[in-house]
Amino acid sequence: MADPIDLRSDTVTRPTAAMRQAMADAEVGDDVYGEDPTVNALEAEVAAMFGHEAALFCPSGSMANQIALQLLVPPGTELLCDADAHVVTYEMGAAAAYGGVTSRTWPPVGAELDADVVAAMVRPDGYWAVPTRAIAVEQTYNRGGGGVIPLDTLRELRRIADAGQVALHCDGARIWHAHVADGVPLATYGALFDTLSVCLSKGLGAPVGSLVVGSADRIERGRVIRKRMGGGMRQAGILAAAGRYALANHVDRLADDHAKAARLAEAIAPFGVLAATVRTNIVPLDLTKAPLDAPALAAAARAEGVLISVLGPHAARLVTHLDVTATQVDQAATTLTQILRR
Ligand SMILES: Cc1ncc(COP(=O)(O)O)c(C=O)c1O
Repeated sequence: MADPIDLRSDTVTRPTAAMRQAMADAEVGDDVYGEDPTVNALEAEVAAMFGHEAALFCPSGSMANQIALQLLVPPGTELLCDADAHVVTYEMGAAAAYGGVTSRTWPPVGAELDADVVAAMVRPDGYWAVPTRAIAVEQTYNRGGGGVIPLDTLRELRRIADAGQVALHCDGARIWHAHVADGVPLATYGALFDTLSVCLSKGLGAPVGSLVVGSADRIERGRVIRKRMGGGMRQAGILAAAGRYALANHVDRLADDHAKAARLAEAIAPFGVLAATVRTNIVPLDLTKAPLDAPALAAAARAEGVLISVLGPHAARLVTHLDVTATQVDQAATTLTQILRR
């Protein structure tokens, strides 16, 4: 049987031959001593892309987010974010477990967030209520169907953060997708946030790696937190080389993944199961009114060689990426529509 068409996530990609060659050719050193030239080059490149002073290479997006949160939100103070945000949904309670962070969430609206709602949640310093120290948003929102927060909303949030003297963090695991979808320069996004975490191993196709981006002072402190969390890597240049290759070769092509997601969405739309307008590489499905629930759809699709993610009893997700061709996407659309029609 042919390999399945894997639409579960954009994390399932495998390094291309050219990326593997770049990894094999990488100059390396001990990064805990700050001596890996490829890691140092990647960190400098990513910092410059976002117009920040420094960046820190981390093994995962979760660690990059959690280092940023520990930098911005001291123990016993508060983080505000969407109830479906990755930082409070999929990071195993790390903000509380490692950072002593209290989190308070606004209803899960993804990119449709209302800045006034966030503004009303910010609590000042005092001895009677937990003070807010940071607001975190996700660009693009993973559980929010890959939605892109409009630049105007982000500017408004920056104004709110400044007025409340709180920090603004961006979980930018897929900020590249927002940049390609809305044409907003990465440096424009960078200027709005105190810290960002960005991933090389989602749509960009590197096997491993994320970075925290911020001021030189914060990143120096972040280096200590990374080591404390067991994230000090040695000859990590082999991984950083994959990331540098991905940044040079795999950003602009994300437009293809967005087009593939739009084709899937178009095929599925007549069945009334699209949960939101598709802007990037994620197609969210709401199966509340469908003849079958999410586990049943996933099982039927799997039997036909198409893998999809189940997010809840009636919620599923399809994600396009580097390792699915347009032809495979069309095959997957045919398979899924046949199942939905049964
Ligand atoms: C929005 C978002 N942030 C952070 C992460 C965490 O990345 P990692 O799996 O590398 O820890 C993910 C993973 O999919 C994600 O979707």
